[in-house]
Amino acid sequence: NEIYLGGLTGRVPSLPMAYAELEARAAQALPPSVLSYVAGGAGDERTQRGNVEAFERHGLMPRMFVGAKERDLSVDLFGMRLPAPLFLAPIGVIGLCAQDGHGDLATARAAARTGVPMVASTLSADPLEQVVPELGDTPGFFQLYTPTDRQLAESLVARAEAAGFRGIVVTLDTWVTGWRPRDLSTANFPQLRGHCLANYTSDPVFRKLLRQDPAADPMATVGTWAQIFGNPLTWDDLPWLRSLTKLPLLVKGIQHPQDARRAIDGGVDGIYCSNHGGRQANGGLPALDCLADVVDAANGVPVLFDSGVRSGSDVIKALALGATAVGVGRPYAWGLSLAGADGVVHVLRTLLAEADLIMAVDGYPTLADLTREALRPVR
Ligand code: FNR
Repeated sequence: NEIYLGGLTGRVPSLPMAYAELEARAAQALPPSVLSYVAGGAGDERTQRGNVEAFERHGLMPRMFVGAKERDLSVDLFGMRLPAPLFLAPIGVIGLCAQDGHGDLATARAAARTGVPMVASTLSADPLEQVVPELGDTPGFFQLYTPTDRQLAESLVARAEAAGFRGIVVTLDTWVTGWRPRDLSTANFPQLRGHCLANYTSDPVFRKLLRQDPAADPMATVGTWAQIFGNPLTWDDLPWLRSLTKLPLLVKGIQHPQDARRAIDGGVDGIYCSNHGGRQANGGLPALDCLADVVDAANGVPVLFDSGVRSGSDVIKALALGATAVGVGRPYAWGLSLAGADGVVHVLRTLLAEADLIMAVDGYPTLADLTREALRPVR
């Protein structure tokens, strides 16, 4: 209404209302190497496109005479009441999308303004201790890339706990970077620019591994980081992972129901079904196609979901397939690129407004009403 009424006096929104335009405008605003990093994916990006296309195969069946005048999108996650089942997926090196380089802080401010939780990446240009205060009362989760050095992992998690993050998300699918032709063609490895390593360079264990002041030799910092970045975890590591924290522990990158079940049996508190937005392995299944089986295997344990969410209707469909909360990645990076924290807030608000209106028009007043029954295959 605010926008339509503004239009009567000739005021049109300065930020795009449609996803395609948001992406196109951000593409014009960003330097080519940053654009290739954010927009790109693995291989010929079939899986990345498949993530988006998978939503088109589900249609929401409208119900009439429901009178869904009031809608309730709030959700409980690990005892936290969230205003909506939406969150900001972790984006490493997001500082590249912010004019002042502080993309993590800007994202946290957007989380504070909307109540939409942020999952903060290990690969941050802003130390995790600086991110949490910007979140205000909105919960934040810390995403861990598990380094080869266990003490460093323990230190990062302990710092995240002390800083006030409310959960730990361990990403399992990215201990090595996937085959990303756009980045390979431009020899673009943004992590290696060094400025996104603040969580590492501010860490006492990392500094011990480095054996010198990070400022003295940036290339040595990058070299040390590259050596320790990722450890391919096995099931044998799960008890150790679990022992790292009393906070809710989630594992990200799960697509197989058996992996979900075994992780839960091993003590994790939540499953994060995702294929990293198609950035890691090409030729895979759309993450959405794996969601329902993962939800069934999780048997009531919360399942977060991301990969390919571009609209409010996508959010609704993932919820109907059983996701507890739905994450967005690239869309908010575009918002950040165009207008900093305001741009991220804009993206979140437009997604939520569309989701809310769909629930109104189609007669699904609460999240409990959104079940698989609400969906039909689109032929
Ligand atoms: C990511 N993603 C990611 N995931 C993670 O666990 N840690 C990270 O540091 C990053 N970094 C990152 C950088 C960029 C530029 C992108 C686009 C993505 C993956 C992210 O959390 C999420 O899984 C996907 O972005 C979801 O897919 P969509 O919404 O981008 O399609």
